[in-house]
Amino acid sequence: MRPMFQFNFQKISQVPLTFFHKKGEISNYLKKIKNILKEKNYKFPESFLLLPTEKPIFLKKIPKNLKLIIVVGIGGSSLGTEAVYKALKRKKADLVEIFFLDTLNPLSFSELISKLKLAPLKRDEIAVCLVSKTGKTFETIANFFVLLRVLKRYQPKIFVITNEGSILWDFAKKRNYSILSIPKEVSGRYSVLSNVGIFPLALAGVDPKELLAGAKEVNKICLIANPLKNPALASALIIFYHYKEGKNIYSNFVFPPDLEFFGRWYCQLMAESLGKDKKGITPTVTVGTTDFHSLAQLYFDGPRDKLINFVFVKNLNHDFQIPPNRDLDFLFPGSEGKKIWELTLAIFEGVKKAYIKKKLPFTETILPELDERSLGALFQMKMIEIIFLAKLMRVNAFDQPGVELYKKETRKILRK
Ligand code: PA5
Repeated sequence: MRPMFQFNFQKISQVPLTFFHKKGEISNYLKKIKNILKEKNYKFPESFLLLPTEKPIFLKKIPKNLKLIIVVGIGGSSLGTEAVYKALKRKKADLVEIFFLDTLNPLSFSELISKLKLAPLKRDEIAVCLVSKTGKTFETIANFFVLLRVLKRYQPKIFVITNEGSILWDFAKKRNYSILSIPKEVSGRYSVLSNVGIFPLALAGVDPKELLAGAKEVNKICLIANPLKNPALASALIIFYHYKEGKNIYSNFVFPPDLEFFGRWYCQLMAESLGKDKKGITPTVTVGTTDFHSLAQLYFDGPRDKLINFVFVKNLNHDFQIPPNRDLDFLFPGSEGKKIWELTLAIFEGVKKAYIKKKLPFTETILPELDERSLGALFQMKMIEIIFLAKLMRVNAFDQPGVELYKKETRKILRK
């Protein structure tokens, strides 16, 4: 069977693996997790781990001939969907377009209106997914009502994805919209493999079964107590070790740029899960090779406060040869006859060598291909890594009291 991904780290990081691995702490946690999986118990927030074991029952609801899907949601209700969609979009040209309405931006509506003017669509060619776990998020609700007006003459099919019993659930029922539920205990940023992510993605033509299959494979290797066999635990321990050493910036350095949104999804996951009780690691995303020409100087010679995780796709299955040219040997010796992705691989290897020479720490996550299975595996591995990290940092991985506070304050202002 094809490997899901490879996770590699430098020798200097190997020592602390066992040193920081408080066996009791993680293995007791793993016992709890195994029980959740065995009993299919959705009463704990860790039950996001059960999602890949579910069958996507909605498949019958998927309308044919869609040309445009509009996802209205923000944070955990849209970032994962956007990350998977953008990772696959350029490779799978037949995916239906997804238009994301997340923040409040009037220009998004102007763009949508122009788009519909330029390429008019029929009624049954548009679907809207309104995604909100709580059903109370201002941006999402405001965007939805404006969207209804913008799409008035289309009367699109509307799917509402929310917690059973939320105020949005009741509203959707009254309006006779199709409703899909989110398991109550699965919090927003861990919900990409629930209806939140897989339903709109399946509408667009992404294979949900493959996404879930990748994640299910990861459950087998990432829930064991030996960090040398468990990449999620190894990664968590390495991040924790470097955090303790003052490296409190963690960047996913992605190749190709199609993975940029994976990095943005991870930023939310890490920031909201770990940033509390005056603790936290600042997540960033760096895009290869573009950011070698903007950030690399800082990374190589600036403050030694960063840990990098290179995320590299080995085989893109699409490549273009640099055509033979007399001047090439002079302009760029060694490049003639090479393919674009081959060249990127050479740059990547060069960068790793430079990192080692400069004694800068990094890990690498190598995906065999850019497809549903690899992405499902990657997302699941990173979610598991974060819950281990939260245990090591002794913070609650599943709440977000700071975010709740801004929502409360805004509500007060609006009421006035
Ligand atoms: O992870 C989280 O809980 C948040 O980022 C939410 O996903 C975000 O605030 C959107 O919330 P909701 O899905 O309730 O609209």
